Amino acid sequence: MTEVLIVKSQEEAGNLYAEAACRLIKANPYATLGLATGSTPHTAYQALAQKVRENHLDVSHVCGFALDEYVMSDLSHPQSYHSVIDREVVVPVGLDPNNIHVPNGAADDVPRACSEYDKAIADAGGIDIQILGIGTDGHIGFNEPGSSLTSPTRMKTLTEQTRVDNARFFDGDLNQVPSHCITQGVGTIMKARHLVLLAFGKSKAAAIAASVEGAVTSMCPASALQLHPHATVIVDEDAASQL
Ligand code: GLP
Repeated sequence: MTEVLIVKSQEEAGNLYAEAACRLIKANPYATLGLATGSTPHTAYQALAQKVRENHLDVSHVCGFALDEYVMSDLSHPQSYHSVIDREVVVPVGLDPNNIHVPNGAADDVPRACSEYDKAIADAGGIDIQILGIGTDGHIGFNEPGSSLTSPTRMKTLTEQTRVDNARFFDGDLNQVPSHCITQGVGTIMKARHLVLLAFGKSKAAAIAASVEGAVTSMCPASALQLHPHATVIVDEDAASQL
């Protein structure tokens, strides 16, 4: 069942995520967070960092798994998701980098790195709360339209639209945006115990309407959330404007 919360601001959305994550960590200091990149989760990570500080929460045992990574040889590139997760989540929240996992986009054997990633998530006991953004075409992680709703972690080719959308992170230069990625599959994402999808702005309105009220179809990967037992979609009024 999908619960939809329409909020006034990104800060309010971020606080709702942070409250849920902190409740979880208080109850289980060994909790596992599913982490996403993109601009959308930014306020959620800031709110989480603030609440962890205010409540003196011990996060030293908290584990994290990123959704995806570009296939690129230099993972120290500032826009690799290794770097982004480190800068935007691990450092501000005070997580232990040794407990944080990001798919290895520089692996020699990418298919093997993908299956090992799914195994690592399973060995950690699964993800407790997975934060998600959404692409303008309804993708989650980097599961572009057409992705099987039961897919495991695997390598994918990025669509032209996603590369254009993400060029803003690469000085606006499309040529710098990698062409391939590793992403948790929709099936992997669906195994998380609680999904929290955030979306802000009019550019996400059509994707949100299709995901929440449209048919469940691989052509809109986020529509799989309708089949999840505990999915929360938190949107601002612009992103909710086509509901
Ligand atoms: C990328 C990420 C997704 C993210 C999407 C939207 O494609 N792989 O996880 O949801 O961007 O990004 P933004 O939040 O910046 O709109």
